Amino acid sequence: MSNFTAHAPGKIILFGEHAVVYGKPAIAVPVNQIRATVRVIPQPEGVTGPVRILAPGINLSCNLEKLNRDHPLAAVVGNVISSLGVSHLPACTIEITSTIPVAAGLGSGAAVSVAIIRALGKFLGQPIANEQVSALTYQIEKFHHGTPSGIDNTVITYAKPVYFVKQPPSPPNGRGAGGEGNENTIETFNIAKPFTIIIGDTGISSPTKAAVSDVRVARQADPARYERLFAAIGSITKTARQSIESGRPQRLGALMNENHALLQEMGVSSPQLDQLVSAACQAGALGAKLSGGGRGGNMIALVREENAKLVCLAIRKAGAVNTITTEVRTHHPG
Ligand code: PMV
Repeated sequence: MSNFTAHAPGKIILFGEHAVVYGKPAIAVPVNQIRATVRVIPQPEGVTGPVRILAPGINLSCNLEKLNRDHPLAAVVGNVISSLGVSHLPACTIEITSTIPVAAGLGSGAAVSVAIIRALGKFLGQPIANEQVSALTYQIEKFHHGTPSGIDNTVITYAKPVYFVKQPPSPPNGRGAGGEGNENTIETFNIAKPFTIIIGDTGISSPTKAAVSDVRVARQADPARYERLFAAIGSITKTARQSIESGRPQRLGALMNENHALLQEMGVSSPQLDQLVSAACQAGALGAKLSGGGRGGNMIALVREENAKLVCLAIRKAGAVNTITTEVRTHHPG
């Protein structure tokens, strides 16, 4: 009997981090060079037995029933079974592997969920539509993060750029402008012409929560200054979307530089991030910026393909512990 395999890419934020928390748009794109892969290996016909989970990357090898119900892997399997209305999962092994660095803002948790959902759908003879894959993954993201925006599950499910605008918080004792529920604007859009980015990792772990909270405090102290920064980032993000959709990705370089300068002003860059960003630009990148929460974590650089190796080397020489070169293109998830 054949196996049932599915993949899901990583993701990275291209524009709009931090400003997105205050209602401005952000763009995240799939990172196809890193991915989660899930293989469901059925037991031969007539053989009964348990459902086994194998995830060598996290040293996990056990029967599904041994996992706590609120373990994210058990939860995702449970959600698929109940949403497809099947009584139980036939005996099989669910093998999970991933090349996406964990807890690095690259969407590793969401990618594993997406790949499990798709592989199980195939195994059960009920392929699951993207809309449902994304919704089921969002449920698991809530498990992991409490109040996820919905951007990770969308960009990873559709493997397309996502333009995301967060619904402003509801006023106390009232309903938000969009009413109840998740009323965020989440739009996928096409990449008219592929482009290459390098992701450089400072190796410094920096909790997003702390950076977000510092920005909140700084904004309270000087609201006018921060509103100006957020508005400028919002208009950069809108222009970036137009450039990607209209096949002029080279324009993203200057937009990245501008966005980085605004993030520096906001106080979320760091000497290491600035060093990687300037090393990339000096080596010929079209533009570069920090990506995600900042202070540490990752930066990105837009490069011409022929220049990618040189820029990678320069970023590493400037202190990056890891680089990923990825072509951003719309691809069809499997
Ligand atoms: O580092 P990531 O990929 O989790 O992105 C954080 C992005 C922020 O805008 C800083 C926070 C948020 O919740 O949007």
